[in-house]
Amino acid sequence: MKVAMIGAGYVGLVSGACFSEFGHEVICVDVDPSKIGRLEKGDIPIFEPGLEQLVEKNVQAGRLSFTTDLAAAVGPAEAVFIAVGTPSRRGGGEADLSYVHQAARDIAAASGGRKVVVTKSTVPVGTGAAVRRILAEANPAVEFHVVSNPEFLREGAAIEDFMRPNRVVCGVDSEHARQIMRELYRPLFLNETPIVFTTLESSELIKYAANCFLATKITFINEMADLCEKVGADVQAVARGIGLDKRIGNLFLHPGPGFGGSCFPKDIRALAATAENHGAPLRIVDAVNDVNESRKKAMADKIARALDDDLAGRTVAILGVTFKPNTDDMRESPSLAIVPALQRAGAAIRAYDPEGMEEAAKLLDGVTWCEDAYDAMEGADAVAILTEWNIFRALDLDRVKKLLKRPVMVDLRNIYTLDEMRAAGFRYVSIGRSE
Ligand code: NAD
Ligand code: UGA
Repeated sequence: MKVAMIGAGYVGLVSGACFSEFGHEVICVDVDPSKIGRLEKGDIPIFEPGLEQLVEKNVQAGRLSFTTDLAAAVGPAEAVFIAVGTPSRRGGGEADLSYVHQAARDIAAASGGRKVVVTKSTVPVGTGAAVRRILAEANPAVEFHVVSNPEFLREGAAIEDFMRPNRVVCGVDSEHARQIMRELYRPLFLNETPIVFTTLESSELIKYAANCFLATKITFINEMADLCEKVGADVQAVARGIGLDKRIGNLFLHPGPGFGGSCFPKDIRALAATAENHGAPLRIVDAVNDVNESRKKAMADKIARALDDDLAGRTVAILGVTFKPNTDDMRESPSLAIVPALQRAGAAIRAYDPEGMEEAAKLLDGVTWCEDAYDAMEGADAVAILTEWNIFRALDLDRVKKLLKRPVMVDLRNIYTLDEMRAAGFRYVSIGRSE
């Protein structure tokens, strides 16, 4: 099938590459000529494991290409995906739909005959109906079918998530749209991936409900961790003990410095705004947002406490600045709240991240960016682990002790055990476990 993918960011590029791997002929379109220029040269603009090889393979096979010419891509396509950004609106929590609406207008102008337009971007309930109106008004001669097909992939595991999803959700408005979606995802259904066909509105809400539920789970365990610290319990044991109950499940119960990223924070704000606008406020979602925002700030206090609340003239080594490992994405990363708070309290920061430093350097001032983890720790008063990159899991603790002025480690991802850190002679502060 011929497919046009509008927007070649994380979701557009990964989805486009994966659909071409399924055997479809995909053209990815982006308004950013530098992005398309890099892609045409085989230079992948984002760090995502496996993506470079997948793109190269399918470009060579002639199934995947890139262009800034939306009309040329949309003209022959049977299915056109919208995978553009939906950031929070400036000064408010609502999703900014201007990119989606613009894409719909551009698609309408470039279309003829019959076209299935699929929204993959995360969009508030009612957007599919709005896209249908825009398409019909802009080009009444075309038979448009509209689909909501939200994406559930995670950064860092994007290809695996796309190729082996727990489910595919499709909100459809016609039998033709349903057939096209079946054909697009055919290889997955042969592997018995469940497909949920529903209405546009339910599909749009499923995406937000899923993200908000996951964010709630994380926030729940984060608050339990705070309680564990007060009462001398171990949050790792609590998470394991509750997670073995199949009704709860063991995933997304890992405590940390608060969730970040390009999606959970903005999607929570957007769903809360939708609910408020419809007079059905979601108080749990509002609380998750508040608790998570204050948690990021509280993490700087936790680091300060490990240095006896005296950061003036001290140096803190920061390991990991991205919001999670295996990505270079810095959007809403907890480090963006923690690092400036430490600096305001008088600390100098030496930091290292395997992939995120280039982007982080644009967002964080006054940080000394280092060659590797050991370089960051040289002469520092304490080290704080903010992101659980694999290379931080097996640090040479003797070497760390020699490099630090004092053997103080704050581990905001619980990647070491209390026993090994005690045995190694560290003052070790972690999440939800007593020192
Ligand atoms: P992104 O910012 O990485 O990419 C969006 C791309 O769209 C940009 O390259 C931009 O130049 C391009 N674009 C904007 N307007 C355009 C237009 N009119 N024509 C062509 N290109 C245009 O965003 P992303 O992270 O890929 O997210 C896209 C959507 O997918 C969002 O709604 C997001 O919530 C959702 N989503 C993201 C993830 C994720 O892990 N990043 C996962 C699931 C869903
Ligand atoms: C998340 C969802 O997991 C995807 O299903 C969804 O498609 C995506 O948002 C989206 O809509 O864009 P992502 O943001 O890439 O994916 O990463 P996650 O692995 O979900 O992590 C999000 C944040 O939660 C990170 O800051 C991570 O450190 C934190 N987290 C996650 C925890 O603190 N504890 C956990 O147990 C899990």
